[in-house]
Amino acid sequence: MPDRTCNIALVGTKFMGRAHSNAFLKVAKFFDLPLTPIMHTLTARNDEQTKAFAERWGWRNWSTDWKAVVRNPEIDLVDVTTPNNAHAENSIAALEAGKHVACEKPLAHTLDSARQMVEAAKKAKGKTFVWYNYRRCPAVALAHQLCKQGKLGRIYQIRGSYMQDWAGPDTPLMWRFEGEVAGSGALGDLCAHTIDMARFITGDEVSEVSGAVMETVIKERRILASGGGEISGHGAATSEKKGASTVDDIVLFLARMNSGALASFEATRLATGYKNANRLEIHGEKGAIRFVFERMNELDWYDATLPGELQGWSTINVTNGNAGHPYAGAWWPVAHVLGYEHSFINQTADIINMIAGKEPVVPMPDFADAYEVQRVLAAVTESNKNHCPVPVAEVK
Ligand SMILES: NC(=O)c1ccc[n+]([C@@H]2O[C@H](COP(=O)([O-])OP(=O)(O)OC[C@H]3O[C@@H](n4cnc5c(N)ncnc54)[C@H](O)[C@@H]3O)[C@@H](O)[C@H]2O)c1
Repeated sequence: MPDRTCNIALVGTKFMGRAHSNAFLKVAKFFDLPLTPIMHTLTARNDEQTKAFAERWGWRNWSTDWKAVVRNPEIDLVDVTTPNNAHAENSIAALEAGKHVACEKPLAHTLDSARQMVEAAKKAKGKTFVWYNYRRCPAVALAHQLCKQGKLGRIYQIRGSYMQDWAGPDTPLMWRFEGEVAGSGALGDLCAHTIDMARFITGDEVSEVSGAVMETVIKERRILASGGGEISGHGAATSEKKGASTVDDIVLFLARMNSGALASFEATRLATGYKNANRLEIHGEKGAIRFVFERMNELDWYDATLPGELQGWSTINVTNGNAGHPYAGAWWPVAHVLGYEHSFINQTADIINMIAGKEPVVPMPDFADAYEVQRVLAAVTESNKNHCPVPVAEVK
């Protein structure tokens, strides 16, 4: 175990609070790290829940005063897993206190807040990280490496879709349906991941968004009786009263990339039959790749440089550490597969390495990088509102 430590404070205790706590708990067991991560302090709003969560997950201290926690001189890294409208306040306070900050995606609920976070990061001595964690599924990381090596050649077309089906009329009005808290619905919650993956794999940026359509299909939802409603809100107590949902349940749009490639994206929480299908297909002159999160250990690869009679999709099981598959060497023997939590553990390893001045396995999004996704989200919203194409360069 290294002598030097990285003392972590976590803000938030629900879905992502669990995913990140699990990552902090496991990371040093699987990766050789230059710093020992210490689960120093947990902070959230509710006394009883925060105490119980801290005991369960092994946080050494807990508090309901997040402002005091992020100023604590013992803390090195503040990890933000609050709803989107709290990201800026939490992160900026932590950066001003000299901490490194890891923040959940999307960077913020509005472009303005996101910009303030980027400005604060520029002035800060701490490093910033954003949990676009799908980059660290080994198959997505391999797709990035293949593309960078030129194996796909010129990219012609990108097709991204993120489909879930949990948000029918019985799903209550959680914060994810409140525009003032979430910023957007399927767009920022789901599509942000797919946009980030497309940028990450191709190294290209969206230059123009057009034809965006966003729809709040379920206009009213039952109000939650008492906060809560983790992830899908199913099983949470609700009152008889209903309130307005103010975010998109479904979004679709087209895009042009800087390189000239064309792209289409869709995200939906009403795709009956799909549970967590984050899919990306990229077609290039020399080859193509296909990824779907529900088969996250596999990358489909098509080599268009092979003689015609040998061409066809092949499926790579991206678990071969000896063959150099990214992150696989830290885990199990070949085809002893990984799951959802491993992308967070892989990202945590890269964060700890970067805090110690080392390079991540694949590029890590910081606040400035995640701001580029935020600009695309803003362009999509504007294209939907004004029924027009929106050059991303004009979104500042
Ligand atoms: N990377 C991913 O794959 C992924 C997956 C799910 C969610 N997320 C992101 O993580 C963030 C949290 O989502 P979640 O699903 O964990 O939400 P959640 O509702 O399950 O948990 C939110 C937590 O924040 C606390 N909280 C709420 N408002 C707060 C405030 N104003 N100040 C302090 N604490 C507050 C709640 O008590 C709760 O502990 C969101 O930004 C979401 O977009 C990312």
